[in-house]
Amino acid sequence: MRAYRFTHAITCQPPQTAVNGLRAVDTGAPDLAVMRAHHADYVAALKSTGATVVELPALEAFPDSLFVEDTALCLPQGAVVMRPGAPSRLGEAAEMAPHLRALYSDVRQIEGVENFIEAGDILTTETEILVGRSARTNAGGVAELARIVADWGHNLREVFTPPGVLHFKTDCSLLDGETILATERLDASGCFKGYRVIHTAPGEEASANAIRFNDLVLFPAGFPRTRDKLIAAGFDLREIGNSECAKLDGGMSCLSLRFTPS
Ligand code: GLY
Repeated sequence: MRAYRFTHAITCQPPQTAVNGLRAVDTGAPDLAVMRAHHADYVAALKSTGATVVELPALEAFPDSLFVEDTALCLPQGAVVMRPGAPSRLGEAAEMAPHLRALYSDVRQIEGVENFIEAGDILTTETEILVGRSARTNAGGVAELARIVADWGHNLREVFTPPGVLHFKTDCSLLDGETILATERLDASGCFKGYRVIHTAPGEEASANAIRFNDLVLFPAGFPRTRDKLIAAGFDLREIGNSECAKLDGGMSCLSLRFTPS
């Protein structure tokens, strides 16, 4: 099934402070030069599709600010500015809001002071918006987002992020209008009934976070068995290095907002 098309993406340069970014397990500081080279490859891959990529300068005050996806949900009807659940990331959303207002006529925001939601927990498919409760996304954040998107005609379904997993989309990606790449542990929850699901290969769970940008799939390098499954299923894949962002629990989806402004 042909999926919704994007014309734009927003990315943000990795700041020097990214070496201090949040991480669940410390496996060493990311190499900033390698991270920036991978980031440049990522932006080039998006541009190769013909997309307009708004490349924002580094925000040194926010070590995790390269992971722009968490700051907003971009839909055909408008954008919603999130309230990140990590205190050190709360200010990133306010930094993103003016850039969205420059492109969208309708920009709303999560306002409840007790409500938290990061868009890494949101998977938008052709028929619904799945939001995984997590350590960063609470019931109040999900409920407030549900009210906003209902106004635009979208159904939102609350689901759950597996324990110990940062975001819902750490474990899944939408590859086309009906196909989801997911870890077996997330699919086992039953949240993808009705979709065609391709599992990551055993031991390659960290490859579940990929992105589709129109007909191209950006996929993290270093996961050959899952890569070969996707190629065999007919996807056009571009492998992008992710070794340094992975040290901060970041992946392909985290590095951009993808949308068609309205
Ligand atoms: N380091 C990305 C995050 O924890 O949000």
